[in-house]
Amino acid sequence: MNKPIRKAVLPVAGLGTRLLPATKTIPKEMLPIVDRPIVQHVIDEAREAGVEEFIFVTGRNKSVIEDYFDTSYELEDILRRSGKSREREALMAELPKAGFASFTRQHAPLGLGHAVWCARKLVGAEPFALLLPDMVTTAGARKSRCLAQCVEVYAEHGGNIIAVEEVPYEQTYQYGVVAVGADFGHAFEIKDMIEKPAKGTAPSNMIISGRYILQPEIFDVLESLKKGAGDEIQITDGMIKLAASQAFHGVRFDGQTYNCGSKLGFLTANIAFALDRSDLAVELRAAIRKLVG
Ligand code: UTP
Repeated sequence: MNKPIRKAVLPVAGLGTRLLPATKTIPKEMLPIVDRPIVQHVIDEAREAGVEEFIFVTGRNKSVIEDYFDTSYELEDILRRSGKSREREALMAELPKAGFASFTRQHAPLGLGHAVWCARKLVGAEPFALLLPDMVTTAGARKSRCLAQCVEVYAEHGGNIIAVEEVPYEQTYQYGVVAVGADFGHAFEIKDMIEKPAKGTAPSNMIISGRYILQPEIFDVLESLKKGAGDEIQITDGMIKLAASQAFHGVRFDGQTYNCGSKLGFLTANIAFALDRSDLAVELRAAIRKLVG
């Protein structure tokens, strides 16, 4: 039997330069999609997939994320005294169980691969989920978000799992791209991976998205990995090395992803999530119509 996925790593130590100046003092993971921080949406997705323990890899200026996942005594007291017990209970219910959120630091943003490696002591010797906390997903026909679909494929095939999504072929040079082996429809064997292939050389138009299930041996690989694209330690380079000895499967995620690390993705996510809210949809639709004339 495959070991269950109990732990998730959330690397939140990046600089978020694409969203400056907002991210000068506010971590991008704390920017709201409607009224919930991006990172809360990601935690919700991980919980839906059965994850119980959250490991945050943070950096300088990110302590507000730690505070967000703690009790806020003054606020809770004010809510209690002003009779807003429903709001207070809702806030409390979202907190991780005591001792189930851990924080470690990446001292310098040396790349996603390096950030993941910083979580090695807290993960230990078990498979774990890796969620890029600036990407949010919504469910499609399968009614579950991306990580739950990855966990389903993991239960069947074991090994390492990567969620993929299709992009126009001309855009593949910007991403990590996979080559498809034996194909099972919703999932497939990954025959090969390449980080940022030269234009016209990508083995497919399927790019590595922001959800993974990885075996703990990835940490040994990352330990000795040299810097790659962008002069950063790349998780894709680590996975390519690990793929020499372990199986990787891709998941064609059924649903929608929003890359909130870019201005366009962040704005689109806000509109999409708001249009899905019964308390906002009608008025927002009317406001958008008025704006776009
Ligand atoms: P990105 O490259 O999208 O994030 O990394 P970034 O570096 O913050 O963004 P820009 O390009 O400057 O706008 C994807 C995820 O990996 C984390 C980021 O916080 C983000 O959630 N990350 C990236 C780290 O934790 N450490 C790193 O060294 C790099």
